[in-house]
Amino acid sequence: MILVTGATGTIGSEVVRQLAARGEKVRALSRDPAGAQMPSGVETAPGHHRDRASVEAAMAGAEAAFLVGVFGPDDAEHDRGLVAAARAAGVRRIVKLSAIGTGDPRLGAGDPQLDAGAPHVGAFGTWHLHGEEAVRASGLEWTILRPSNFASNTLSWAQAVREGTPALNMMGAGKQGVVDPRDIAEIAVAALLDPRHSGRTYTLTGPETLSAHEQAAVLGEILGRAVPLHDLSPEERREQLLAAGLGEAYADGLVIAARFIQNGGNDVVTEDVREALGRAPRTYREWVVDHREAFGEEFGVS
Ligand SMILES: NC(=O)c1ccc[n+]([C@@H]2O[C@H](COP(=O)([O-])OP(=O)(O)OC[C@H]3O[C@@H](n4cnc5c(N)ncnc54)[C@H](OP(=O)(O)O)[C@@H]3O)[C@@H](O)[C@H]2O)c1
Repeated sequence: MILVTGATGTIGSEVVRQLAARGEKVRALSRDPAGAQMPSGVETAPGHHRDRASVEAAMAGAEAAFLVGVFGPDDAEHDRGLVAAARAAGVRRIVKLSAIGTGDPRLGAGDPQLDAGAPHVGAFGTWHLHGEEAVRASGLEWTILRPSNFASNTLSWAQAVREGTPALNMMGAGKQGVVDPRDIAEIAVAALLDPRHSGRTYTLTGPETLSAHEQAAVLGEILGRAVPLHDLSPEERREQLLAAGLGEAYADGLVIAARFIQNGGNDVVTEDVREALGRAPRTYREWVVDHREAFGEEFGVS
């Protein structure tokens, strides 16, 4: 049996779907198991990544576990709890969803919590670091996935695109190796089932880097209409995030990451999807074609 945390989320739901389609026995963790929409045959278990006891109980009897934990600075420590729960429950193999840039000292530049100029991994670059360290020190079979920018992040543009208003962009012209969540999930599934991926840290990107404006152009081409973007400075975005109720440390971390991306820090393509799956990564265009209904396209590819 395989325990999937973050099971109703972007990557976890796809991991559950793919495991179930392969006939694997799956248990899905959710804060709201009754409301979780799962493929038939998938068990659900109540729990929360911040509540170690609930995760440990859900892991009872699992051979492998998919770990999704971090949503910001307040949760970075809870990643350690997920690993401790896996060990205590007798799980043999763990796969952690991390992020590209983890531990990159360049992410320290501009961090208000650090001394100016001191070479140091900034706050954003540490959000997954303690979890990764716990995974590597766990004594279990482990795989760490460090994806780049999810193709699905552009679903945040869907309402604006449907309404014909500009969607918001805080990444300027910074390019990223936009990766399809289905590829991330497929590698997670491979790593959960196959010890050949053990001890590997995969940095997962699509086949090319794209700026948000290039993504909007692809989207516009598939939808057959222009997709305008409104560029926000990182500082404007910070104000928005604070107004939306995010804490200062979270907003600062996201602004640091945005500046890093704007300055070309995430203009990175790797071969790791091909190495893990033996095929090329999906393109952003393929993702848009398969999700165009979300943007108001009902009549097929133009
Ligand atoms: N988006 C990107 O471009 C990107 C790139 C690289 C790495 N990542 C990493 O990917 C991870 C997120 O993965 P994801 O997008 O698949 O997850 P997600 O969809 O954001 O959330 C996963 C699940 O966590 C639970 N959850 C959400 N907010 C919560 C909260 N405030 N407190 C407690 N539980 C909450 C929800 O499950 P229930 O309601 O069912 O409990 C949700 O379905 C993060 O660690 C992030 O650093 C993201």
